[in-house]
Amino acid sequence: MTMALTLPRDAITTAAQPSAMPRRRGTLLIVDDEDGARQSLRVIFKDDYEILMAGDGAAAVELAQKNKVDVAVLDIRMAGMSGIEVLERLKYVNPSIEAVMMTAYETTDTMRQALRLRACDYINKPFDVSTMRAAVATAMQRRTLESEIHTNAEKLQQLLDELQSEKIEEQMATARGEIYASIIHDINGPLTVISGFVQLMNQRIGNATRLDLEDLEFIKDRLKTITRQVTNCIEISRRYLSFLRRQSDDPPRVGFNQLLTDLGHLTRVHPSLQNNKFAVRLLPEDIGVRMNGTDVIQVLLNLTVNAFQCTSQAHSVDIEGRILPQALDLAAFKDSPQERLLNVESFDNAAPLLMICVRDDGPGIPPETLPKIFQAYFSTKGARQGTGLGLNIVQRLIKESKGALHVHTHLGKGTCFTVYLPAQPLATS
Ligand SMILES: Nc1ncnc2c1ncn2[C@@H]1O[C@H](COP(=O)(O)OP(=O)(O)OP(=O)(O)O)[C@@H](O)[C@H]1O
Ligand SMILES: [Mg+2]
Repeated sequence: MTMALTLPRDAITTAAQPSAMPRRRGTLLIVDDEDGARQSLRVIFKDDYEILMAGDGAAAVELAQKNKVDVAVLDIRMAGMSGIEVLERLKYVNPSIEAVMMTAYETTDTMRQALRLRACDYINKPFDVSTMRAAVATAMQRRTLESEIHTNAEKLQQLLDELQSEKIEEQMATARGEIYASIIHDINGPLTVISGFVQLMNQRIGNATRLDLEDLEFIKDRLKTITRQVTNCIEISRRYLSFLRRQSDDPPRVGFNQLLTDLGHLTRVHPSLQNNKFAVRLLPEDIGVRMNGTDVIQVLLNLTVNAFQCTSQAHSVDIEGRILPQALDLAAFKDSPQERLLNVESFDNAAPLLMICVRDDGPGIPPETLPKIFQAYFSTKGARQGTGLGLNIVQRLIKESKGALHVHTHLGKGTCFTVYLPAQPLATS
């Protein structure tokens, strides 16, 4: 998806290109405790700016709190609060207020203080009008520039936020695409079984006009499997559609051995089984895992079907589980041309763990292929046999359940995929 982002014309205004909007007149705050000085300043500036006047610091601060002051002209030497103090408080009210200080016989120390508080200029008293005009005009310009910079920074931030939300939407569109592909991939498995069974029933019944008891039992039995597969399809689509919300802390209700038994039933009727030997060994003692039952079956079915399909020669595939009473020693695992451990970062490596191996004695995986097998759409099978999504889904489902996945392969000897899942005692009711 390409991102079409047009910058509004006035998104960035520079000092050289002021926006076309009519500018409001700047507001000038005159602070002097002498009425005569205040009035003469008012006369100088009344035609150019909005004028506010204060005879002492407290009144100046109050005016600044109630009005948007751009520039303040401050007499340093005033009764009560000094001009320096007023400057400090004005900057506290609004750090962008610019100030022109009026000095008579100030020390360099006072000047230094005014500088520290970022006063814009100093005018000696008595001042001449043109110097005062120039000083206030420069201060006003500085204020305008600063507020334009501020507005532009805000607009920039707004644009960045828009860009970010476009990016998130783009990522969500990609995620949605992946989810759709995963649904189709996973539903394909049960559909293959359903279609095989329907075919078997058709063969059995043929053009018969009546069914004997044996045929009826046969059909009833097949219908049970078909029903289970249809339920699987529904669960798969439900799982993916609630993908982002799914996170249940409920203790598992189905024991792992039940899932292995279900997997055995499914696999034995899978077309990829062909003439291969297949064995599933149950756990000596049952336990639950912190993974949705359909996900467990999906993971193991993908690994088993891959093991069946690794060669067209007859070979053996077996599945075996074990409960590990200790956490894994991750340092003992090293990625190599024959080995890989995935999802270490999100792995909840705490005992008890369930370890389940899907092993074949097929041709093994070449070292140059091993790094690619978990990539989406990577497949060495023909276009009609593999989409290359199986292991990608397996890895993702294991990651979501905070498990880990290990693959060990040996050319000419076979491959073993081992899944490690956080185990949990079964719910009692
Ligand atoms: N047990 C195995 N032995 C040898 N190669 C394997 C084994 N399991 C996976 N592979 C390799 O990993 C590749 C990717 O597997 P993956 O399950 O992701 O896709 P696929 O099986 O090709 O297609 P799909 O599962 O989408 O139908 C396979 O094409 C194969 O080359
Ligand atoms: Mg596969």
